[in-house]
Amino acid sequence: MQFIEKAGMFAGSKSKMMQPKQFPYQPEQASSGSRKQFAWPVTGKLQELGGRLMAYYDEFPKNETFLCAFEEALLFTPDEQQRVYTRILMEDAQTRLLLLGLHESHPFPVHDHAGASACHVILHGSLRLRHYREAEIINKAMVRLDCISDRTLSAGDCDCVDSERAIHGLESVGQRVLVLNLQSRELDSKERHWYFPASMQQQEKRLWYRIRRRQD
Ligand SMILES: [Fe+2]
Repeated sequence: MQFIEKAGMFAGSKSKMMQPKQFPYQPEQASSGSRKQFAWPVTGKLQELGGRLMAYYDEFPKNETFLCAFEEALLFTPDEQQRVYTRILMEDAQTRLLLLGLHESHPFPVHDHAGASACHVILHGSLRLRHYREAEIINKAMVRLDCISDRTLSAGDCDCVDSERAIHGLESVGQRVLVLNLQSRELDSKERHWYFPASMQQQEKRLWYRIRRRQD
């Protein structure tokens, strides 16, 4: 049985709200084997991280702990205390596997990853993902960002961050999107930031506030 179908049945078995028909059967998206992982060339380390992520993706429908988290994330409703669903599914000294759930009402603000590597694959729903690059440093608290990619990913699609694609913002296209994320815990830099628009100018001319964020 393919992932999307089985996950839907699992969720539907415990909740009247979540019927299997809400999870379209998408055989071309359910197996990692037939999918191209990334839309651009990636380094060996990132390739290895992506390979491990897809092994977890394939394991997902057989792992009850993963499926329980999947169901919890489907039922998650954001509030001011918890705007995004996050759950650590697996952790070792080098990597951390996370389930991330975003609701359409609470996009994940633009942020960077301090040079760390991470890969993600969409489990359910659609994700609008925008990558940015710092084009100009105006002062300590303000930068100009170039948007270098703006894509919508659906179930089974992958993306990654590394030092070349370190800044991104995420938002759910439909009601919610669930993302499986594998990140390296070896950071190149401890400094991380949030970015918030500082002007209403066109995308390529827009200034952004850059604010340091607390480490995990
Ligand atoms: Fe991120």
